[in-house]
Amino acid sequence: MSRDLVELAKRRGYFFQSAGAYGGVSGFYTYGPEGATLKQNVEDAWRERFQVREGHREIDAPTVLPEPVFEASGHLDGFDDMLVECPECGESHRADHLVEDNTEIEEAESIPIPEVETLIADHDLRCPNCDAELAGQSVEEFNLMFETNIGPGSSSPGYLRPETAQGIFVEFPQLAEYARNQLPFGITQIGKAYRNEISPRKSIIRVREFTQAELEHFVDPEADEPPLDRVADVELTLYPADEQEREDGEYLTKTVREAVDEGIVHEWIAYYLGVGKQWYESIGVDMDRFRFRQHLPGELAHYSADCWDAESEVDGDWIEISGYSYRSDYDLSKHDDHSDDDFTVFKQYDEPTVVERATVDPDMSYLGPEFGGAAGDVADALETLAERDRTAFDAETVTVEVDGETHAIPVEKTGFSVDEIKETGEHVLPHVVEPSIGVDRVIYTVLDHAYEEDEIEGEARTRLALEPEVAPTFVGVFPLMDKDGMGETAREVTADLRAAGFDVTYDDSGNIGRRYRRQDEVGTPFCVTVDYDSLDDDTVTLRERDSTEQVRVAVDDLPDLLADLRSGDLAFGELDAPTPDQ
Ligand code: GAP
Repeated sequence: MSRDLVELAKRRGYFFQSAGAYGGVSGFYTYGPEGATLKQNVEDAWRERFQVREGHREIDAPTVLPEPVFEASGHLDGFDDMLVECPECGESHRADHLVEDNTEIEEAESIPIPEVETLIADHDLRCPNCDAELAGQSVEEFNLMFETNIGPGSSSPGYLRPETAQGIFVEFPQLAEYARNQLPFGITQIGKAYRNEISPRKSIIRVREFTQAELEHFVDPEADEPPLDRVADVELTLYPADEQEREDGEYLTKTVREAVDEGIVHEWIAYYLGVGKQWYESIGVDMDRFRFRQHLPGELAHYSADCWDAESEVDGDWIEISGYSYRSDYDLSKHDDHSDDDFTVFKQYDEPTVVERATVDPDMSYLGPEFGGAAGDVADALETLAERDRTAFDAETVTVEVDGETHAIPVEKTGFSVDEIKETGEHVLPHVVEPSIGVDRVIYTVLDHAYEEDEIEGEARTRLALEPEVAPTFVGVFPLMDKDGMGETAREVTADLRAAGFDVTYDDSGNIGRRYRRQDEVGTPFCVTVDYDSLDDDTVTLRERDSTEQVRVAVDDLPDLLADLRSGDLAFGELDAPTPDQ
């Protein structure tokens, strides 16, 4: 199936390896005309469901960000995969994938490196390229980010973003101001992400440049609740971590409400699993080949407190197509610590409250001569100590540590006091709930689940049963033959339908049956044929891809009929007297 689909994708303009004229480049794919439109349609559908309907707003941040961003985010230290190199041919492999492919172990990413080395030796794993023994080879951490230099020279290193999310987090102070400092609010971004994958594989499923559609929903964990009622009855197929760890573990079928009430899924994550399930189904993912799988503890990304992946079954394997992660305040606290900006929001109380606040007002005419250049740091340390432990000021001298040195300061020189002050609110670090969709993997799934082979009047046909909402070419228009005025009429119909906003292909080459088969393979849901009757009565035949049935409709009615068929307001079977394919 996979080879057939990848071959169809290339032949029919969905996707193909980039720069084929130069031998191709591993991990980079070009979307052809059909693929680029399918991708656009999937992205539009995502925007409609995850952004517009939820009231979130989109931004467009750069794909290159400076090094400090990724130092703060933890990607520089922790965004690694396990690499093992073949001693014979020098080919690099992902060690955890070799283990998964050759043992019963399903998720080897969470296994510590020394154990992976042992597994490689115990199972006598070999290089998939040249069959050399890999036992004894060391497994290394390999950072997946692509490094570059910003401007000439190497003084300002930057990285291609490995996730679109960081472009949102790093702009949080501006975005919070835009949102009038009111939680909750959500920011989305669709764009390219880059990972220097050790071994790209399975066409667009694991590539080095791919598209993510991400939502970062900033919430107050103490006060905000998701609007669960909207998706409470959506049924989820769940594969929790504890079920995965049990030998006879199984899937649980729960509604969103049950999953929350039974403590299986965090309420915010459950809400977006419900939204996600509705969305995948609407764009044509087969729900019998779909599940939500919770990450095992060792599998969690460095930023994630809990994560559920949406997984689809393609070519007999389960693949992760999206991640729904509870990132807590991890990212904002890191950027708050590492940068000069404030990544908190000010949360106004309903009523002002009176609180006791311990402060210091150190006598600098004493600290200056006593501590010289360190006087400022000593004053700061006193301030911090007053906030944390006011009892430290009960003694005659107060002790603070600055740069490893201990200093004793007479308490009367600290200006310590406890005052009552009126507070109108407090600064809080929002928590982040993140549905992160891998657009390329969703597209592969949609194509794979739409791929069908059947027989029409004894002739084999291949069909992409794409949902009309996302099908890149929506209607094919053919003249029966390009003569006696049928060609002109068909071209006029084509122009009118394009003006009405449909993606239309015009085709007058080959016999009509072959033209239908071509569009079936591309996934075009409807075809319109202009024949001799059309010239007399201004009607055409309208054919549906999946049933191959046809009805005769007036040319003037076509735009409205097609719009209703695309939106789902009208089913083809509801049209008058469909007849079998000719
Ligand atoms: N911001 C969170 C994040 O980036 P992730 O699980 O690393 O989380 C999210 O990535 C999604 O991006 C994945 O579920 C997957 O669909 C897609 N993705 C990740 N790496 C990919 C690759 N090398 N090729 C294609 N898609 C990829």
